[in-house]
Amino acid sequence: MIVLGVESSCDETSVAVVENCEKIRSNVILSQLVHSDFGGVVPELASREHLKAITTVYREALDKAGVVPEQIDLFTATYGPGLVGALLVGLNFSKGLAFGYDKPFVAVNHLEGHLTANMLIHQDALPQKHLTLIISGGHTSLVLVNGFSDYILLGQTRDDAVGEAYDKVAKLLGLGYPGGHVVDRLAKDGDRHFHKFPRGMIKEDNFDFSYSGLKTAVALYVKDVGEDKVQANLADICASFQEAALEVLVERAVRAASEYQVEAVTLSGGVASNSRLKELMQEELSKIGVKFLFPPPELCTDNAAMIAATGYLRYKSDGPSNLTVNAVPYLALV
Ligand code: KG4
Ligand code: ZN
Repeated sequence: MIVLGVESSCDETSVAVVENCEKIRSNVILSQLVHSDFGGVVPELASREHLKAITTVYREALDKAGVVPEQIDLFTATYGPGLVGALLVGLNFSKGLAFGYDKPFVAVNHLEGHLTANMLIHQDALPQKHLTLIISGGHTSLVLVNGFSDYILLGQTRDDAVGEAYDKVAKLLGLGYPGGHVVDRLAKDGDRHFHKFPRGMIKEDNFDFSYSGLKTAVALYVKDVGEDKVQANLADICASFQEAALEVLVERAVRAASEYQVEAVTLSGGVASNSRLKELMQEELSKIGVKFLFPPPELCTDNAAMIAATGYLRYKSDGPSNLTVNAVPYLALV
């Protein structure tokens, strides 16, 4: 099947054309720049930017894939979780196309999209049963995957998401928004032991996470040492913060991999692009003989290829969605 995916849950407008859950023919991603001045996503602006961009992004995705709309067999879009106004733009766009071209439509859960990115890209290498960390600006969850649509949530954040902590720390350090990738880059030249920041809930015998304490600790540290020392030791502070943020993710993933006897662990979501996290996971998982897989950066960030692939698998298992389906801002994976 030739599947069209549409993603607009936050600040990326994306349209993709994918064959089944196998081949990406195009995956156009437009990241909105308007939010950087505000230090975070402004929901109303996000909706307006999606509206302005969606037709152009759609046309580009079709052009790059070399298809005309009549060749699309299945239309899909994210229906949640996300910003309701933003979700409505992509959802209604895709539903409208499905109605107009008289083809089936499938509504996709954004979180399922993130984890399915690994099934799309690692078709042969990924065992059905595996663990995934969904780590993004809005989510931090550890999920046991027993196959498509069969998930057990082992743990999640009790407060902030890990990507949110990265973004808030980047803002505190004057690195702009979103700042996760900047912290990652600066940390490469920093001393990870420069300052010991707290590892949220590290001693607790569960699979949950907490990032608000770490964020506050960095804020207090910055206030305490003053602007000059912060600027003089920017890379060291980034490296020390990053080590605290990532150590908990790795500890939870490695312990769960042993406890649930999985053969592979994957990463999904924007933070899955983090270079130090990949290094640490590879190091620790190889010690216990567990395979480590992650998507390329364009499939980690919000993108429509993962939505199209998930929509295809959902269509195969459950058939089409009803065109009355609405946007659901708070939607869990399970
Ligand atoms: O999945 P995503 O594109 O959007 C959400 O669904 O939230 O994730 C965006 C998040 C942002 O918080 C961004 O700062 C973070 O992913 N991020 C990173 C890196 N690249 C993006 N965090 C740490 N290291 C990176 N290299
Ligand atoms: Zn996302």
